[in-house]
Amino acid sequence: MRLILGIETSCDETAVAVVEGRRVLGNIVASQADLHARWGGVVPEAAARQHVERLHPILQQALDEAGVALREIEGIAVTNRPGLVGALVVGLATAKALAFALRLPFVGVHHLEGHLYSAFLTEPDAPIPFPHLCLIVSGGHTEMVLAKGHGDYQLLGQTLDDAAGEAFDKVARLLGLGYPGGPAIDHLARKGNPHAFRFPRAWLEGSHNFSFSGLKTAVLREVERLQGQLGTDPASMNPTKRAGGCASELDESTLADLCASFQQAVIDVLVTKAIRAAQACSVSVLTVVGGVAANSALQSQMRDSADTARLKLFIPPPHYCTDNAAMIACAGYYRLLAGERADFDLDAYASAPLTNR
Ligand code: KG4
Ligand code: ZN
Repeated sequence: MRLILGIETSCDETAVAVVEGRRVLGNIVASQADLHARWGGVVPEAAARQHVERLHPILQQALDEAGVALREIEGIAVTNRPGLVGALVVGLATAKALAFALRLPFVGVHHLEGHLYSAFLTEPDAPIPFPHLCLIVSGGHTEMVLAKGHGDYQLLGQTLDDAAGEAFDKVARLLGLGYPGGPAIDHLARKGNPHAFRFPRAWLEGSHNFSFSGLKTAVLREVERLQGQLGTDPASMNPTKRAGGCASELDESTLADLCASFQQAVIDVLVTKAIRAAQACSVSVLTVVGGVAANSALQSQMRDSADTARLKLFIPPPHYCTDNAAMIACAGYYRLLAGERADFDLDAYASAPLTNR
């Protein structure tokens, strides 16, 4: 069994992919970012409705791109946890209908397991040995996972408050940069000085955990201070007031410095703790996945540090870092290969830990 159809609708991306093992044949992602931008974040009900409208045409596009007919598909993988339940259910119902009609095996995939497998799409022919360390940095999760084998994971640490991506989104929002914030900060930070502002790093020594909410608050305080210097009403810094993306009163170069300094604080912690954890576990391979792994400065600094530590590093190309269905199909491929089969009563779950098979 090699030709797998993947479906991902856990949040605001409607995505379908066709993979052949670790090789991606077709991969279509329809982002709803424009729809949700006006509200400054994802509105669950609107997300679910968009999935209903878009999933069917996207399924056809993915098959067309792959040059594969539906009847050639050998198995189906669908994200069924964690995520917005109303959104997950759209993908899950579609996967069940296809599996029933085509008499195909299907499996439910944990969204974070999908991210973990996005590393396998980076260089389809390169071996990624177990055990290896995987740093998952997405909008909802920041987790350090020891992958001991296919479907065999040990959670070493996680964020105690905000996820790294959430911190990017919240800081972007308070700077009036819109949603989603990560790409906007990444872009603006290139023009800024990462040492302009000294923001705190929560090292949480002795653990593999993370914390980013203090950093976010420090940025807010700094912005309030700068606004005070300009004589601007501090109330205008209320994040909800700024959610509409109103132009900041701060000049472009100060904004760029704030972005670069905030981003550097996140990167310092992620890079240092990931390398340390890899060394503590005596693994030779580190993978960094999830939306924040698309960050250009994180990628280059992680590469430099991994080189110095003699670790082989896999970071997927940006379109496999952010949500997509190719990673779900790849994770599902290994599950189906191991003989796993879901029943038609498979449910969707808003929250679920990344557990073993
Ligand atoms: O993995 P993902 O697509 O969705 C979740 O599973 O949450 O991650 C989305 C997160 C958002 O917080 C977004 O702002 C962040 O990834 N992100 C980035 C970049 N691109 C996306 N953060 C920093 N730099 C980027 N270039
Ligand atoms: Zn994700």
